Amino acid sequence: MRPSFAARRNLRNSRMSDTTANRKKLYIETVGCQMNLLDSELVVGKLRNEGYELTDDIGQADTILYNTCSVRQHAEDKIYSALGRIRQLKQVKPEVTIGVLGCMAQKDQKQILRRAPHVDVVVGPGQLAKVPELLVLAKEQGTPQMAVSLPRTAGSNQTVTESFAEYDPMREPAMRPSSFQAFVRIMMGCDKFCTYCIVPSVRGPEQSRPASVIIDEARMLADQGVKEITLLGQTVNSYRSVDAAGRTYRLSDLLERLHEIESLKRIKFITNFPNDMTDDLLQAIRDLPRVSRYLHVPAQSGCDEVLKRMKRMYSVALYDDMLARIRETVPGAAVSSDFIVGFPGESEASFEKSMQLVERGRFKNSFIFKYSPRQGTKADTLFIDDVPEEVKKRRNNDLLALQTAISQEDNRQFLGRPLEVLVEGPSKSSKGLEPGEVGQLTGRTACDRIVVFEGNERLIGQFVPVIAEEASGVTLFGRVVTMDLVAPRA
Ligand code: 5AD
Ligand code: SF4
Repeated sequence: MRPSFAARRNLRNSRMSDTTANRKKLYIETVGCQMNLLDSELVVGKLRNEGYELTDDIGQADTILYNTCSVRQHAEDKIYSALGRIRQLKQVKPEVTIGVLGCMAQKDQKQILRRAPHVDVVVGPGQLAKVPELLVLAKEQGTPQMAVSLPRTAGSNQTVTESFAEYDPMREPAMRPSSFQAFVRIMMGCDKFCTYCIVPSVRGPEQSRPASVIIDEARMLADQGVKEITLLGQTVNSYRSVDAAGRTYRLSDLLERLHEIESLKRIKFITNFPNDMTDDLLQAIRDLPRVSRYLHVPAQSGCDEVLKRMKRMYSVALYDDMLARIRETVPGAAVSSDFIVGFPGESEASFEKSMQLVERGRFKNSFIFKYSPRQGTKADTLFIDDVPEEVKKRRNNDLLALQTAISQEDNRQFLGRPLEVLVEGPSKSSKGLEPGEVGQLTGRTACDRIVVFEGNERLIGQFVPVIAEEASGVTLFGRVVTMDLVAPRA
């Protein structure tokens, strides 16, 4: 999953008007991927029903929650240093309850309590439904409470799977970071076991939610005014479920059914696995106009030996072939990727092959990460982390510079063209626009390209035509136009 914009949607819901003095105040910080953002939304929704209200001010909070990520060391360090910082706060205000939720809670479990004894509640991503009751218990009993799922090797697949409970309770509109966009979980967990990756341990076995449940949830969201949904799964194109009548649903079937909900103007889905990019899916994307022509398909490396050590189960040739099939079947599709640099044994020659893949892949963008050994993964036991940090850093910079140049070139094709943009909010430089005020707004095209332009705050949540006038590697800059002729799929 794309781990990029957690901070952007940190659930600071200042729109809430319920400010009854005796409501408990909840402060929550979320790091990591979209799955975590959705989990936080659901936890907050549940707690709100239990009488909490959100606060932006950690100093005012009665309960402080961190929803955490374990994918790289850096994400964990951030949380441990935040926990270090609030140690004093807990000394001054011992009545404050502190909780660590999510992937790091599942991975580190009691170790969190050893490193941060002021933590009251530790809850893994498969046990989030228990958060409200554990907060109460921690307070009543004055002892730390923990709820985590079973390790992958603890028993039969069914027993382990059951310990990663589905957590998609009623969606509460007030809790969504935006009233017109929503995430919908279609899969949980992962069974691919790429050797570097902690996700299969901390998020458990792969499970596809039933199609009928997903369709009902999407319909409910659409009725609440949602215009864009993003389907979430670690490998969303491996989706497969069978209904009571024995009918199998693949992602393509699900998209077809979701496309029947007419008020959903955009349907996106992340993240894809290269091996599962089947022709039926590509044809569905081609034939369903409101499904975004945007595919995030991480390659991770452009070198077969590295891919083998990563246990990615495909070759560079297969990835290239997949790209060719995407471009042939879905003209104009935007493809983005993830790369890991400095994986054990990555030589200069192997790295050069990743550069070549970025060069010929013409990705819309790539997320590039330095390899971070994760305890409990195969790569951590099998291989030595032998690429020095400076080399990882240099490779990261080189790959990013190449990708940025390509992204900028790619963006230039849109200059002078009107694009259909769903306006998401004020841009970073004009946070805090007053109602009716004009300022810099940001939005995205159907293909996930970021567009910044000047406009009235009232446009937030609308589809507007914007002519692109300038392009950087990351962003298109433009101006709103009043014409019907837009390129809805760019
Ligand atoms: N080190 C560095 N990057 C990693 N990713 C997953 N595990 C690691 C790791 N141990 C990256 C992959 C994945 C993205 C979400 O995070 O590129 O696609
Ligand atoms: Fe991790 Fe690989 Fe599963 Fe993605 S497919 S979540 S990288 S194990």
